[in-house]
Amino acid sequence: MELPLHLLTAIDHELEKQSTHKIATLVTELSESYRTGIPLNKGKFIRSHEDVIAYASFRLPATFAAVYSSISHIKERYPQWNPKTLMDVGAGPGTAMWATSTLWTALEHITLLEQEEYMIDFGKRLSAYSPLTAVQKAEWIKTDITKQWDVSPHDLVIASYVLNELPQDKSEKFIKQLWDRTGDVLVIIEPGTPAGFLRIKKAREQLIATGAKTIAPCPHDLPCPMDNSDWCHFSQRVARSRLHRNVKAGELSYEDEKFSFLCMSRTGGKAIKGLVIRHPQVRKGHIQLKLCTPNGLTNSMITRKDKDLFKKSRDLTWGSIINNNDEL
Ligand SMILES: C[S@@+](CC[C@H](N)C(=O)[O-])C[C@H]1O[C@@H](n2cnc3c(N)ncnc32)[C@H](O)[C@@H]1O
Repeated sequence: MELPLHLLTAIDHELEKQSTHKIATLVTELSESYRTGIPLNKGKFIRSHEDVIAYASFRLPATFAAVYSSISHIKERYPQWNPKTLMDVGAGPGTAMWATSTLWTALEHITLLEQEEYMIDFGKRLSAYSPLTAVQKAEWIKTDITKQWDVSPHDLVIASYVLNELPQDKSEKFIKQLWDRTGDVLVIIEPGTPAGFLRIKKAREQLIATGAKTIAPCPHDLPCPMDNSDWCHFSQRVARSRLHRNVKAGELSYEDEKFSFLCMSRTGGKAIKGLVIRHPQVRKGHIQLKLCTPNGLTNSMITRKDKDLFKKSRDLTWGSIINNNDEL
């Protein structure tokens, strides 16, 4: 996937104003800091305007891809739904707002909560490039999201790559606040690592206990069948722009972002038979699929002998839905 043209242009314009060498140095520092989880300054990952530009050039495309891919599951499993209001919590430069407004262009009001003034300033500058009034006029609120925030419920609430930055003991209260302010659908996205998945799994248990229903990715509201030796995550490929490659010298023209996520709703989405939770293993004579189903995790083998099913199964990818009326 590619970033929307308006967002790409906005980031490129901001990057062009900076020294490539300086941003490249900051990208190296920041990526190390995010990789190890050790903040650069007094518990914070961002120290300056330049850090935000570095973040936008090396992380924003990947987190955009993860958000876009996650919310696309809502389109598939709750197709009639059209949110009018969005709240992006721990918004950074407004990544989730851009992804959401690409999918639902009729959004009317967007609220973004963020503590970092540098992120807010930069996010506002990017917003000006959007053709959508809701994005241009989005309401940015500077606040600490681990405290009480006084915002009325929004149809869609998203917290993307945020839980991992909060103290663990604040997590439960934070998730409760997110849910209390969710009109219908809450989306939480974390890095696709064992630790990221554990946070998603815990959030899912907490939300189901309060009556939330799964839209995606799980095909049920039952306890997660994955054992501790594995973690449920997905992958989205995203193109890197020329400037992005300049600040991450010599790297590929794309990256594969791994993420874990959940979309929970007050009403529930369509029931499905299963979800492909690994890259399908396509061999000459057969295809092997690892699925999560309401009956637990399964391994299915489709042989070439079953011509039609084999042909259809070749289109399945990691994250594909198996519908109730599908043959599999
Ligand atoms: C990794 S960034 C993710 C930004 C954006 N959601 C995305 O997906 O690109 C995490 C964001 O959460 C914000 N954040 C972390 N702790 C926060 C807090 N206690 N209150 C408000 N924002 C916070 C950070 O400032 C940062 O902008």
